[in-house]
Amino acid sequence: MKILIIGGGGREHALTWALAPSATVFCAPGNPGTAELATNLQVDANDHSAVIDIIREHKIDLTVIGPEGPLADGLADSISNSGFRVFGPSAAAARIEASKAFAKDLMFRAGIPTAASATFDDRDDALSYIETHDEPLVVKASGLAAGKGAVVCKTRKDAVAAVKEMFEGRFGRAGSVVVVEEFMDGEELSVFALTNGEHSLLLPCAQDHKRIGEGDTGPNTGGMGAYSPVSIATYELLTTIRDTVIDPTLRALAEDGSMYKGLLYAGIMVTPDGEPRVVEFNCRFGDPEAQVVLPMARRMLAEHMWAIAAGEAWTPKPVDYGPRAALTTVLAASGYPDAPKKGAVIQVPDQIPEDTFLFHAGTSLSGSELTVSGGRVLCATGLGQTVADAHRKSVALAESVSFEGKVFRRDIGWREEARAGTS
Ligand code: AMP
Ligand code: GLY
Repeated sequence: MKILIIGGGGREHALTWALAPSATVFCAPGNPGTAELATNLQVDANDHSAVIDIIREHKIDLTVIGPEGPLADGLADSISNSGFRVFGPSAAAARIEASKAFAKDLMFRAGIPTAASATFDDRDDALSYIETHDEPLVVKASGLAAGKGAVVCKTRKDAVAAVKEMFEGRFGRAGSVVVVEEFMDGEELSVFALTNGEHSLLLPCAQDHKRIGEGDTGPNTGGMGAYSPVSIATYELLTTIRDTVIDPTLRALAEDGSMYKGLLYAGIMVTPDGEPRVVEFNCRFGDPEAQVVLPMARRMLAEHMWAIAAGEAWTPKPVDYGPRAALTTVLAASGYPDAPKKGAVIQVPDQIPEDTFLFHAGTSLSGSELTVSGGRVLCATGLGQTVADAHRKSVALAESVSFEGKVFRRDIGWREEARAGTS
């Protein structure tokens, strides 16, 4: 089988690593990490006909779309309308991520547990709503905003400022529609389901760490590290999430004529009384969560993706992932997230120890030198019998890489280690 992966970040390197044993892999554009396992092709994912040309030229059997941008832009539709197999939802189904207004409306209609909210295309209406609702509040740009479009506001005053900024264009068109919602207390969980729109298979859960600083302090980022599994995600809780969130969402999408095929990511808040409520949906694997979930669940991935893309009969059985854990530490550039400094030369050890993986995210080659080319540069993943064991391996690998201004958190997985009494 020949697989084309669209994208070039840490998630796509992890996808390449996971799929390479089952297929000949091409990446567009990929990165220096994927180049070690696959053939990188310089194609712009915005140019659908150029993507279809390379699918024809390289006789690609299956295209896997990594990031949300091309999905929201209808790349999966263009590929399937040209008669090729693709793993990833249609633009209509990807609205579950690309339009928070759409996602909230669907959740309310289908009775899916989530924060109370209202959607506005008029600034003054949003400001009046804030006046009559309790703080804290969360203000969100409805459209895609690279993970930065949600502002948690402790006070009504902060919420007013956030609404004004959004309507003044802080997030461009993504903020022309704004969602104001109730703040939910609790612990977050990233839940991943492979689905053909009818059936779903849950992968191991993960927990992301959005803040730049240790102890979850400082500004939000795309994610500074993740681990899996998460012990609060018990069999009972996951069954509840499948029955009250994943399956009803898929049914509601299908009833709307937007059958969802691909990977559905539910960001869940587990409230202090143990109830799961949806924070958001994403239409693709999380990044950096993929860098822990895929090392845990690589077996059969290509077969599942193929069956879903080909529309074959697919009734997946729950998988026992065994007593294993994975943890990834993101190495970021100095100045990330606001103004990451690019260009530093990266030194990587010749030998990567057993049970560790170094996934490339924002790297490029300048001649023979590996250099920093993005905010999140590399992801150091460790696999172990426990989260603490995986953590040690991940941090040791993170320390063994050097580049000027390297920033990373040493406390990824702190909640889990506190629960296990190992921190
Ligand atoms: P989103 O872009 O919707 O994923 O939001 C980004 C982050 O903001 C989430 O991962 C949460 O940490 C936080 N957040 C979003 N909505 C809420 C909410 N209603 N209550 C509490 N925290 C939230
Ligand atoms: N790590 C969060 C995301 O991928 O959206």
